[in-house]
Amino acid sequence: MKVLGISMGRKNERCDIYCKQILMGVEAAAKASGKDIEVEFINTVTMDIGQCRGCGACSKAPDGKIKCILKDDYLELEEKVLDADGIVICAPVYSVGIVGQLKNFLDRFGAAHDRASMIDEQNKRREDGRPLLDERYFKDRYCSYVAVGGAWTEDWTCLGLPMMHLFSCSQTMKVVGQINANDQGRKTSPFLDQPMMDDMFAMGENLAMVRQRGNMSGLPSESSDGERNGYRDLPGLRHPRQDHCC
Ligand SMILES: Cc1cc2nc3c(=O)[nH]c(=O)nc-3n(C[C@H](O)[C@H](O)[C@H](O)COP(=O)(O)O)c2cc1C
Repeated sequence: MKVLGISMGRKNERCDIYCKQILMGVEAAAKASGKDIEVEFINTVTMDIGQCRGCGACSKAPDGKIKCILKDDYLELEEKVLDADGIVICAPVYSVGIVGQLKNFLDRFGAAHDRASMIDEQNKRREDGRPLLDERYFKDRYCSYVAVGGAWTEDWTCLGLPMMHLFSCSQTMKVVGQINANDQGRKTSPFLDQPMMDDMFAMGENLAMVRQRGNMSGLPSESSDGERNGYRDLPGLRHPRQDHCC
């Protein structure tokens, strides 16, 4: 099993620190439970991920690979996502929402890998005897999100997490945790915010402990989603709402 940590912030800054803390939580939980989990970290800040031009080439996939034809670093990140079983994205909030690089990635990844249309396409290919789509497109993945914002108030980060969910949406990945890490501007370093670092670590433990999709735990169906799938409920928004401006 593989867990990929994607940081879209500046190198060695907050997204990197939180992402690595989460991956340490993954490793610790894997070690404690004897699970074989490989972790990988990637910082994307200098990657060239341009915008979708709407050409439609990705929907043809003659050889079974849904491939964007633009020549930039998108394919490298896409391959890493497809190889992973669990993914955590730590991305800065810019202009109240997700950073542009993430939006560009989502525009090129999301629609092209829509699970419902891929299942439909796979069935047609099977009937017609055409090359089948890559099996990795149909993996049951799970993920977590951290939106990192400098602003004191949550208002200025309010579209961060909701927009990040676009990543899991079309692939129907299970989201097992989200944290709105706002108020970073007044903090000299995440290392001085132990409760936040603990939440990040716990998020990593959750990623490691989540079970496969569906009610595989044997727990009754009226139990909570977290109970059935092995993860604990984490705080979605850590800080109480404050009415000051940015
Ligand atoms: C162009 C730009 C726009 C930003 N807009 C917001 C914003 O709307 N809300 C907010 O909370 N922080 C905003 N920030 C602050 C970043 O979210 C903050 O610096 C964060 O720590 C960046 O992540 P990093 O430290 O991992 O690079 C903005 C920063 C930049 C450079």
